[in-house]
Amino acid sequence: MTKAAPAQIEQAADLIRDGGLVAVPTETVYGLAADATNDKAVARIFEAKGRPQFNPLIIHVADAAMAKRYVKFSPLAAKLAGEFWPGPLTMVLPRRADSNTSLLVSAGLDTVAVRAPAHAAAQALIRAVDHPLAAPSANRSGAISPTTPDHVRKSLRDKVDMILDGGACIIGIESTIVAINDNDVTMLRVGGITRDAIEQFLGRSLAEAPISQTPQAPGMLASHYAPQAPLRLNTSAPRDGEAFLGFGETETTSPYALNLSPSGDLRESAANLFAHLRRLDDLCAEHNLRGIAAAPVPHAGLGEAINDRLKRAAAPRSA
Ligand code: TXA
Ligand code: MG
Repeated sequence: MTKAAPAQIEQAADLIRDGGLVAVPTETVYGLAADATNDKAVARIFEAKGRPQFNPLIIHVADAAMAKRYVKFSPLAAKLAGEFWPGPLTMVLPRRADSNTSLLVSAGLDTVAVRAPAHAAAQALIRAVDHPLAAPSANRSGAISPTTPDHVRKSLRDKVDMILDGGACIIGIESTIVAINDNDVTMLRVGGITRDAIEQFLGRSLAEAPISQTPQAPGMLASHYAPQAPLRLNTSAPRDGEAFLGFGETETTSPYALNLSPSGDLRESAANLFAHLRRLDDLCAEHNLRGIAAAPVPHAGLGEAINDRLKRAAAPRSA
């Protein structure tokens, strides 16, 4: 992780105050950030991403004290924040009636998704602006999330006013999203904090969201995080003319192979996932390959989130 200079943080903060869009590093993926209290700035996010307007955004705060200004922070939310913030846990909580966050952020829902990122540059920027930052992943809607400044440049180029360089994201997969209702904690999206970690901390199982209550937001659509090339899952070896995404000890003679983690480490795999998919996608285009074959990844721990993203990347495309 490289450290953004104070002058860059100041420049980014000025742009955000003026209603601009800044790509911000977080420990999960790069976010496309705007002042969450500025309607026009939030609208620009949807425009830049080509994202359907009705999908709600996460607001990024420095800590629980700041979150309490915008959402009703129940004792259970406070308990989870105490354990997992700053970090890749997003909580969906009731919006406070006196909150000045743009209604576009919650897209008509009476809840807001909130998280405190654990990246020094993101923290410094939020504190400098002292407003929450609305930020989805900094990629075109439906495409692979960015884990380096270069990924952002390739996907959004002229649509972003500044890219704050914080190096490669150390977790590499989006935050875990839970909804909190009274005493229920419901899993909405698996991500950088494992289900096990939350369940062990709470001493009970998480509830699953009934499909009807799951907003049809991009990260929950069947096809998402998708490369251009078709992706074939759970295969021990590539066919002729396929690139290969390996995991653990794999044998392949394909010259177009990358390994998520030769030692079978799931953290390393999560950190490499999106960068490797992008690289293999580029190789498919450059060498006219027919697609990407991917080795099976175990489901335990972060494997659940990795498999979730692989499954969505492999799903039939809607358009
Ligand atoms: O790690 C992350 O979460 C990254 C970084 C930048 O923080 N952000 C991210 O944002 O992945 P995005 O917009 O790509 O995904 C946010 C997800 C959406 O899929 C949406 O379903 C969910 O958050 N969401 C936001 N507000 C919600 C709400 N009020 N109720 C339910 N889900 C919500
Ligand atoms: Mg996204």
